[in-house]
Amino acid sequence: MRLPDPALVVLVGPSGAGKSTWAAGRYRTEEVVSSDALRGVVGSGPHDLDASADAFALLETVVAARLGRGLTTVVDTLGLDADRRLAWLAAARAAGLPAVAVRMHTPDALCRQRNAARDRPVPAPVLAAQLKRAALVGTALDLEGWDLVHVVDTDEAPRVPEEAPRRVEGHTPRRGPDDRRSSQGLRVVLQVSRFPWGEDPAGWLRSVALAADEAGFAGLALMDHLIQIPQVGRAWEPIPEPWVTLGMLAGLDTRLDLGTLVTPVTFRPAGVVAKAAATLDALTGGRCFVGIGAGWWAREHAAYAVPFPSARERLDLLEDAIRTMRALWASGTKAYAGGRVDLPETTGYPRPAGRIPVVVGGGGERRTLRIAAELGDACNVASDPETLDRKIEVLRAHCRDVGRDPAEVAVTVLDLPVVGRDRADAWARVERLRGRSPAAAFARRTHAGTVADQRDRYGALADRGVDTVFLGLGDLAGPEDVLALADLVG
Ligand code: CTP
Ligand code: MG
Repeated sequence: MRLPDPALVVLVGPSGAGKSTWAAGRYRTEEVVSSDALRGVVGSGPHDLDASADAFALLETVVAARLGRGLTTVVDTLGLDADRRLAWLAAARAAGLPAVAVRMHTPDALCRQRNAARDRPVPAPVLAAQLKRAALVGTALDLEGWDLVHVVDTDEAPRVPEEAPRRVEGHTPRRGPDDRRSSQGLRVVLQVSRFPWGEDPAGWLRSVALAADEAGFAGLALMDHLIQIPQVGRAWEPIPEPWVTLGMLAGLDTRLDLGTLVTPVTFRPAGVVAKAAATLDALTGGRCFVGIGAGWWAREHAAYAVPFPSARERLDLLEDAIRTMRALWASGTKAYAGGRVDLPETTGYPRPAGRIPVVVGGGGERRTLRIAAELGDACNVASDPETLDRKIEVLRAHCRDVGRDPAEVAVTVLDLPVVGRDRADAWARVERLRGRSPAAAFARRTHAGTVADQRDRYGALADRGVDTVFLGLGDLAGPEDVLALADLVG
């Protein structure tokens, strides 16, 4: 059972029910606001009842401050006081956060037994009174308007059951002999956009690619920019030329598909891109793909003296480039007359080993997705669920218009999550990466969480009809970060 996150989580249950233990197993220490712990802060220890008023005043301050920042807040008190509960519920609503009550449903005898075993047990009559109130609290919670009342039974079965592989109706994934898919039916390709390779560029690249292969990634994609983009790093950080780099990776003993995500059509004449891709495909026995887009960054064009025409012209170029590449990759050497693209001959050797997939990057609804529908093997759009549904709808409509079977145009997404070993690590990464963005907004935007969290999300992407996820890590440091994703990819 995965609870909403971020959220207000209010624990409810008598002493010894296991509230603090439950919270400690799921949340970071800083996320749990505990009246006992605060008694220890302002009083002599967690059971200093004389310090209760001060502890609760502090607790309210902390809860309000965290909710105000949109941060997950777990309130660890008995939770048996309806007025307090309703005040926290209202505060969560005001902050726009979902409000969850977690009721610990623990047999009375077990609570008594655990209480008796403590250094400072709650007096028996006090516990008896708590047990009486706890027995009635279920009904109250149901009426209070919580977004979710989660009941934890002491003998609750292990969480997260194994999931069966998903199949998406009306969707035929391309399956070659080496079509690696996750247990959720997705191809997951590592997108590498930063290269903190220190003194050993080739060694770093090699270790990252071998780790991707070992973790079970279906492929490796390189960004294509002339200057590192501000979204990823600083202008003086290295960003290698992708075809040269892919050539080096082609020499490693892996089963990874290799390609660009995406190469701007403005950088190289389409015929030269076709040549590079055909060469890579021949060298790798058919593992090349070409992610290609219209380009967007004026600065890198100016700096390298590469023309940067208008958006309309770049989209025309994109359309022509795909036609040109396909013509040059087709068998034979005959002339090609495509109307807008005319080639006197299509002599291209080495020939690609197979059909090279063309992934059209960008979510532009009027033209980019139309080009994907008409000429692409796949589109590539952002992974956030709201826009994704819309883009898929638009793509399908274009397919209908141009008479293309939508199953022939795979939906791929670029996904840039923050992934931590555990909740604490994920949060540490958010703190490191967020820059000036508020933490809660950054964590939401980057789907910050564990591998298990990302798996849930990828299951939902597969259900929406996504075929391939290009997964990029904003803080990729080396092979360990790649190996840590094995459970997401396999
Ligand atoms: N415990 C356990 N197994 C669980 C949950 C709890 O053995 N599944 C034990 C804990 O180790 C602890 C005792 O039961 O010694 C009480 O658990 P705790 O989480 O501290 O209970 P709370 O509900 O937080 O009790 P209180 O209200 O007194 O803080
Ligand atoms: Mg406790």
